[in-house]
Amino acid sequence: MAKAFNWQLSKEVSYPYEPKRPKKQFAVVMDLNKCIACQTCTIACKTTWTSGRGQEYMLWNNVETKPWGFYPLGWDAKLLELLEGDKKTVFDAPEGERVLGWKPEDMDWMYPNIGEDEVNEPVDIGTVLENFPHPIWMFYLPRICNHCTYPACVAACPRQAIYKREEDGIVLIDPERCEGYQECVKACPYKKTMFNFVARISQKCIGCFPRVEEGLQPQCVITCIGKIRLMGFISPPEKARPENPIDFLVHIKKVALPIYPQTGLEPNVYYIPPINVPIRFLKQMFGPGAEHAVKTYMAMREGKEPELQALLHLFGSTPRIPYSFAVGPNEVIAFDEKGREIVRVPLVEPLQYRPHKDPRLD
Ligand code: SF4
Ligand code: SF4
Ligand code: F3S
Repeated sequence: MAKAFNWQLSKEVSYPYEPKRPKKQFAVVMDLNKCIACQTCTIACKTTWTSGRGQEYMLWNNVETKPWGFYPLGWDAKLLELLEGDKKTVFDAPEGERVLGWKPEDMDWMYPNIGEDEVNEPVDIGTVLENFPHPIWMFYLPRICNHCTYPACVAACPRQAIYKREEDGIVLIDPERCEGYQECVKACPYKKTMFNFVARISQKCIGCFPRVEEGLQPQCVITCIGKIRLMGFISPPEKARPENPIDFLVHIKKVALPIYPQTGLEPNVYYIPPINVPIRFLKQMFGPGAEHAVKTYMAMREGKEPELQALLHLFGSTPRIPYSFAVGPNEVIAFDEKGREIVRVPLVEPLQYRPHKDPRLD
């Protein structure tokens, strides 16, 4: 096993292949305070990529309610059992195994909306929730493939049918090489490779690479009704650029966090945690930075983080991939790879006053 430095864990992890960071790394930030579980992202992905036979239960993008929603059933509860707290990563497998994992049963994929809108504990009829944060909580968690820096799916495939692209870090399955061994399904701790029973191969989120190659953000990002998502490219922390929106959110403000970083994969979908959820739960899911992230978001709501507040206006504002941003007194501006302006968003919507009385009615 080779050793790979995982900045999310600040330590070296074992990895079966010699680690190599891509030239650019695909990354998405999702603000969980804004998701309304409308499932527009799910349908956008489904109608674009997975409407074929054998893909009926296949949702490359899904949105589940936490704490009781899972797709597939129980995926993260089982993951936490497997990792024995956070003592090991999935690459700390016993002799003869490449990656720690488990394969969901067929039935586990069949209830993508299980637990939808269920709160954390039973509520008595007539209960009035007055104070915030209150003990009754739930939140929506949209999930896609994390296009991990050290992908477990790549590590596990005996056919070497899965690869990570040098140009953008997107992880793809080669349908010509895949023989349907499903070691990738077993290994991915996020359960984001899925077996197609008709095609007899595994398939997964492709990071909308044909769009990314054109400088465009993925379908699930640009169709999001709640404007909770932003796609870009993340740098390793030592190369973070404050003007890069993803670096600013993840490395500078540390308000966006990886999901279950203890897996050791360096997942590249980053979540701004929901402020209504107990910190204990958030730490388990997003790591020790959860408390700082929530405090920063709360400060932003009080007007103490104007740059962060301005940047959140860029979410859902342009189909193009923003490489950098700048904040003016009244607007936030995004630029493409060549530094050309791609969008300018006012920080305060201009107010239009209608005349008190319509003169045409005189
Ligand atoms: Fe592979 Fe799973 Fe990581 Fe996606 S989330 S790159 S499928 S290990
Ligand atoms: Fe689907 Fe593209 Fe989003 Fe992946 S990036 S979940 S392929 S829409
Ligand atoms: Fe490999 Fe997964 Fe196919 S393990 S052979 S990519 S089903």
